[in-house]
Amino acid sequence: MDPTIAHAIQAILFSQSNGHTVSSQGRSRLLGEGALKYSDGNFTYGEVTPEGMEQILAPAIPREGEVFYDLGSGTGKGVIFASTLFPFKKCVGIELLPDLHAVSQEVRDRFEREIKPAFGNGWDPNVEFRQEDFADSDFSDADIVFAHATCFEEGLMATLQRKFEALKEGARVILVTKTLSSPILQWLTTSVCPFSWGSATVSCYRRGT
Ligand SMILES: C[S@@+](CC[C@H](N)C(=O)[O-])C[C@H]1O[C@@H](n2cnc3c(N)ncnc32)[C@H](O)[C@@H]1O
Repeated sequence: MDPTIAHAIQAILFSQSNGHTVSSQGRSRLLGEGALKYSDGNFTYGEVTPEGMEQILAPAIPREGEVFYDLGSGTGKGVIFASTLFPFKKCVGIELLPDLHAVSQEVRDRFEREIKPAFGNGWDPNVEFRQEDFADSDFSDADIVFAHATCFEEGLMATLQRKFEALKEGARVILVTKTLSSPILQWLTTSVCPFSWGSATVSCYRRGT
């Protein structure tokens, strides 16, 4: 599907929710309840765009039937755009903040009810959202993992790198702003892509042997 259609889907599914507002109100509420962990930079919010997502995924050369993960999926734009732009078998979003996860579940329900039937032709991508800490999540079935990691802190990146090293051979990892240094995560490309908040570098790696 081309990005124009992903744009139209964005207008239908996401016009009623503002991820930045949902994230900041949700974090304030949790802070008020004493859940201080949500104050850190890891939870800084920003989103992908339809044309950005196409550019982000292209260097990983998604193949039919592969499995895609967005680590820190927010309201679910990365997952929905990936599922509409490339022939993935399954697209999964993992988000810890309950308010953002709740929005992504509503988006998924509307995607199933309003978008999929409109296309027909047997187009039936499997979309899932899980409310989990991706540092503890199992995403070992991933072929392509994306993380909008611009504000992820050093400790979280070190944890993620260990999890990326344990992915299956041939899996690709795509990171916004951050880079990896590992003998088994081979650098493929770095390019500049557009996001909701401006442009940033996107680096793609392949899990080798
Ligand atoms: C920059 S936003 C990206 C949102 C979405 N991936 C996109 O690009 O449109 C990063 C997201 O990661 C989430 N996040 C941060 N740390 C997390 C963790 N340990 N587990 C799950 N989600 C996390 C934040 O709440 C935030 O929604």
